[in-house]
Amino acid sequence: MDFLNLAKDRYSCRMLDPRPVEQEKIDRIIEAALCAPTAVNKQPFRVFVLQSPEALAKAGEAFPFDFVRKAPALIVIGAKEDEAWVRKFDSRNFADVDATIVATHVMLAIHDLGLVSTWIGNFDPTVMKAAFPVMEGLDLIALFPVAYPAQDAAPGAKHTVSRECGELICRL
Ligand SMILES: Cc1cc2nc3c(=O)[nH]c(=O)nc-3n(C[C@H](O)[C@H](O)[C@H](O)COP(=O)(O)O)c2cc1C
Repeated sequence: MDFLNLAKDRYSCRMLDPRPVEQEKIDRIIEAALCAPTAVNKQPFRVFVLQSPEALAKAGEAFPFDFVRKAPALIVIGAKEDEAWVRKFDSRNFADVDATIVATHVMLAIHDLGLVSTWIGNFDPTVMKAAFPVMEGLDLIALFPVAYPAQDAAPGAKHTVSRECGELICRL
């Protein structure tokens, strides 16, 4: 699939099949994360891959979504501010920007592999960090369930809602 078709075809899938995902596919997603560009190549991010039943159960305490608990794997992405490039003009720290690019690679790689996900921002980072102390010191920006779609999987109502192009794109 070419890039535009891949980007248009992706949707937030909230109907997951609990069957396992092959390790090679998880490894490909990690590879996609690792080749994301970051400001001044500082790579101020961490990617956590949760696959053990214990880790999945602990992470499940941090979010309110039952569908996410069906996934055989979760990927959590954190930004590390103290490793990031800071723009001198306004002291803007780019850790969250860098981590978001990594997360976008992950999201699209999942779809490219015939898998599904939903970018989850609504989780409690304090609960997540209490479960996984290795995440301390990070700004946890995204969590992705990684799964095969359920047979009746379909995009949600918001998938097709879009503002007017003229409101979003300004040609100068
Ligand atoms: C930064 C971000 C955070 C999101 N957080 C959640 C979330 O916590 N729970 C959820 O069900 N969907 C979440 N979503 C998915 C959006 O609701 C979804 O992308 C949007 O409605 C457009 O639908 P689509 O992804 O099917 O095109 C999030 C998406 C983004 C980009």
